[in-house]
Amino acid sequence: MRIDVVTIFPDYLAPLELSLAGKAREKGLIDIRVHDLRQWAHDKHRTVDDTPYGGGAGMVMKPEPWGEAFDALISTGANDERPTVVFTTPSGQPFSQAVARELATRERIVFACGRYEGIDQRVLDEVATRCEVREISLGDYVLNGGEVAALAITEAVVRLVPGFMGNAESLVEESHEDGLLEYPVYTKPASWRGHEVPPVLLSGDHGAIAGWRRDQAVRRTAERRPDLVHPSVLIDDVDIRPVQAGDAGELFVLQRACWVQEEHDNPGVRIPALHETLDELRAWIARDTVLVARSAGRLVGAVRASLDGESWEVGRLMVAPDVAGRGLGRTLLERIEALAPAEAATYALFTGAGSARNQKMYKKAGYRLRGEIAPGVVRMTKAIRRP
Ligand SMILES: C[S@@+](CC[C@H](N)C(=O)[O-])C[C@H]1O[C@@H](n2cnc3c(N)ncnc32)[C@H](O)[C@@H]1O
Repeated sequence: MRIDVVTIFPDYLAPLELSLAGKAREKGLIDIRVHDLRQWAHDKHRTVDDTPYGGGAGMVMKPEPWGEAFDALISTGANDERPTVVFTTPSGQPFSQAVARELATRERIVFACGRYEGIDQRVLDEVATRCEVREISLGDYVLNGGEVAALAITEAVVRLVPGFMGNAESLVEESHEDGLLEYPVYTKPASWRGHEVPPVLLSGDHGAIAGWRRDQAVRRTAERRPDLVHPSVLIDDVDIRPVQAGDAGELFVLQRACWVQEEHDNPGVRIPALHETLDELRAWIARDTVLVARSAGRLVGAVRASLDGESWEVGRLMVAPDVAGRGLGRTLLERIEALAPAEAATYALFTGAGSARNQKMYKKAGYRLRGEIAPGVVRMTKAIRRP
């Protein structure tokens, strides 16, 4: 990758000469060139700014030096030899890991670092007729110039260029790569000034460690950046209560989302939860015993049951796919079982013959398979034991 930076303060880019560029250059991965914009200003004082048309405070960067800079840096050859030109500006697209990933695929990037009140708009318009133009902001604040932004963007992009990082795996687990912040990290010693490393990290149990890290990443993200994940993914404070008529709409949507996987796992089986109407759902929530689970206000789970003879028929046990696998299904099952009336002698439910995950959960909860009661549908039961 080749990176050109155009600035009136080339010394500001000196850090690029240090670790980053040094390492990448040694490996032959990156070619970074810094250019002084004033070499393309031809008056005695090498002037690059002038007063704004229309009046107002400050100065604006003149188009002519920038025009010549781009004439020198944009090849007139084939499209794929043309750079992506990044104008750093507080009114640009917010910079993010996703934008960094995108820029890391480019062969050439030219950074245009603004100063004063910015660059004459016609420069951006004219360059856009010749190559891809991106206006990128480092964040919602105003810097004195674009150099710091160019440095930050370069650093984030270059470490994604294949071959730059010694251990490419460390990129995969980083903050923002999977939409989550990274879990906390620890190194030796295991005990330091009375602060201990979480015991799970010393356990050698790779499954438990992966689970703990995932949980910490979700927890951190929900607490610190609710704009990235909904706080409902922290199901610690889940509120389980009887359904109300007003829950019908959300329940209808949740049900549709939850049974799509079932349909996939049980090809050819018609799944009522995916086909019934909102009115049909309203009818059974009015008739059956139904519990709903809410976390941070959001409906994340539900279950229903009704008595048929001596059988407490449990059904529609659902957990939102993004909070599945955290024990909420099991909790809902226990809560609905606890509501079985005195005349019930058995808990019973149906699930898909191909729904291996569900069956595993029900078996762990004490249910036994009683065989296929319709093509692709199995029945499971458990005797009710009362003290
Ligand atoms: C003082 S700023 C100009 C701010 C401009 N008058 C405005 O309000 O948008 C000068 C230069 O700093 C750079 N700059 C300032 N804040 C930035 C940010 N958040 N992200 C990227 N570049 C920034 C831009 O290159 C800009 O042209």
